[in-house]
Amino acid sequence: MLNIAHISDLHLDGNEEKYNRLDELLCDISDHGIDHLVITGDITNAGRDVEYKQAIRLFKKYGYYEHSRLSVIPGNHDLYPFFFRKFPRKPEWDDIKGNPKLFLKNLKEILPKLRQYSQSNYSAECKRFASYFKQSCLTKYPYEKNLSSNSALVGIDTNNILPTYHLDGSRIKLFKNTIDHIRTRSHLIHSLYEYSDNPLCCNGDVDLESVETVLKRQYQKRKTIIVVMHHYLYDKRTVVSEEGEVFAETMGIYQRNKLLALFKKYKVKLVLHGHWHITESYIAKDVEVLNGAGIND
Ligand SMILES: [Fe+2]
Repeated sequence: MLNIAHISDLHLDGNEEKYNRLDELLCDISDHGIDHLVITGDITNAGRDVEYKQAIRLFKKYGYYEHSRLSVIPGNHDLYPFFFRKFPRKPEWDDIKGNPKLFLKNLKEILPKLRQYSQSNYSAECKRFASYFKQSCLTKYPYEKNLSSNSALVGIDTNNILPTYHLDGSRIKLFKNTIDHIRTRSHLIHSLYEYSDNPLCCNGDVDLESVETVLKRQYQKRKTIIVVMHHYLYDKRTVVSEEGEVFAETMGIYQRNKLLALFKKYKVKLVLHGHWHITESYIAKDVEVLNGAGIND
């Protein structure tokens, strides 16, 4: 039997505190005889080399830095470091709360650049992420990995937040996606792909077509499928009731229901994700889901 541990949202920031907490956590995981470690994104806080290197140093220390023992996918902090470098997390967030004028001034400066930045750097950041974890994931998503003779892991990049831009960048796909999004998201017709739809780069999106191709293939091989992704699959009403409207609007995933329908169709056994820093299991439209908290809060 294969023992898998799932953790998420490490947000390593170059400082010792989080590094030491991850060290303790990995020590515990290793002591429990875990064969395979899954990390569902936001490994770094702002995609800095020093942050990636902290993670890799610890994965190596506990013997997880190899393809057969580690599976990772990127989170929004890994792929959209621009915003998070300007607005690091605590304790700086507390300063921002205490100084809303400064926050708004910075935001005004950043927002107009954000969309352009994301479009031009998404692919580069994806490749950079993959270069650090080449033992554990591929540059193209979704990726498939055999965990055992009868089980497979499917890693999805849910950070596909600007639907006009895809990894292959083909014009046909771009056109198709544009039409698709106009059809499925009427609220986007008047503000199609505006950065205001995703001001903090925290909302997610998926390429359903490529996800279905991979799931179907594994289903036909009769594999037990475990999906690994960053964004959560909670019903929006749950998120609103627990965290409020703003959180729900800026931390969700587009096409959630369609994605869940695919998971159900291809009998996905379990979905692992992070992004919202809580630990719990829940059912989303008959699909079993585990949310793994980070080492942050
Ligand atoms: Fe996240």
